[in-house]
Amino acid sequence: MFEQGKGVVPDPFLSSKQLKRELLGLIENRREKITPGQLERTISQKFSVKRKEIKSVIKDLVTEGALIYTYHYGRTFIEKSFNKAVRISKYVILKPPTISFGAKADDVVVEIAHGASFGTGQHPTTRIAIKGIEHAVRKSSLLEGDKETSTLDIGTGSGVLAITSVRLGIDKGIGLDIDPCARHEAKANIKINGLEDKIKICDSSLESLNQKFTLITANLRCPTLKKIYPAIAKITKEGGAVVLSGVKTDEVSELIDIYTEKYFEYNWEECEKGWACLLFLKTTAPVTQNFSVFLCTEKKEI
Ligand SMILES: C[S@@+](CC[C@H](N)C(=O)[O-])C[C@H]1O[C@@H](n2cnc3c(N)ncnc32)[C@H](O)[C@@H]1O
Repeated sequence: MFEQGKGVVPDPFLSSKQLKRELLGLIENRREKITPGQLERTISQKFSVKRKEIKSVIKDLVTEGALIYTYHYGRTFIEKSFNKAVRISKYVILKPPTISFGAKADDVVVEIAHGASFGTGQHPTTRIAIKGIEHAVRKSSLLEGDKETSTLDIGTGSGVLAITSVRLGIDKGIGLDIDPCARHEAKANIKINGLEDKIKICDSSLESLNQKFTLITANLRCPTLKKIYPAIAKITKEGGAVVLSGVKTDEVSELIDIYTEKYFEYNWEECEKGWACLLFLKTTAPVTQNFSVFLCTEKKEI
């Protein structure tokens, strides 16, 4: 199956199982998307395996549902498939409604139909936001004290973050999106998860909301997150949490400086593939110290 390539140390013991592991690991740890051709080239150079054989193993992984071909701006890429049940964090599993999954007692299964809107789990910003929500809800005292906890998800897309927050223990929520298609798909996903009486989807502006929330989530780009800071500060309950995702790692310090200037303490962060998610807690007393220490470390890109 394997042949010796020029100038490469051959690995005669690399089984097809190991080759699958190498392919999946390379895709998982890579910051940028990869084309099938680039993937074949990288692996053949590293292990001296015939490209024809690599192609066939990639095909097997696609057939098994581990990998998927995606199309962006006329180019074909090969990515990890989320068209199956995927554990995103300690408790949360994302899966399409058509796929069955044997959940354990503690598992929180969120069902998302794959449509046109953002939020299937395919993008790192959704995955780290889910980890941020889990951290806020399960590892802080967020749910203590409030009679009825609430969440606001700004830019809800598929509704995945609002659904996850409620599934993890928040009582009720609102999802906002400027895109009518996203609002339609979010409503459908809320129904699939049986949460119609707990989560409402609308296109209201932040300024028109006249209530405060225990948890606010927003997976948006940095300029928008900066712009909506005053509104977010106003509608977060004292002691409440804000989970911001969609931030590039080189934008983090600036965003932390803005959010910790007066009302929030920086509490936690997670990074994946050059993206960061930040968790802030609203203080009950004015912040006197700036917390712009960014500790994020990531797996090295291959
Ligand atoms: C990156 S997606 C996030 C989707 C989902 N929350 C997730 O984490 O996977 C951003 C979504 O925000 C919406 N959006 C962009 N700017 C917005 C704004 N200013 N107010 C409300 N929604 C916005 C977009 O239509 C899109 O659906």
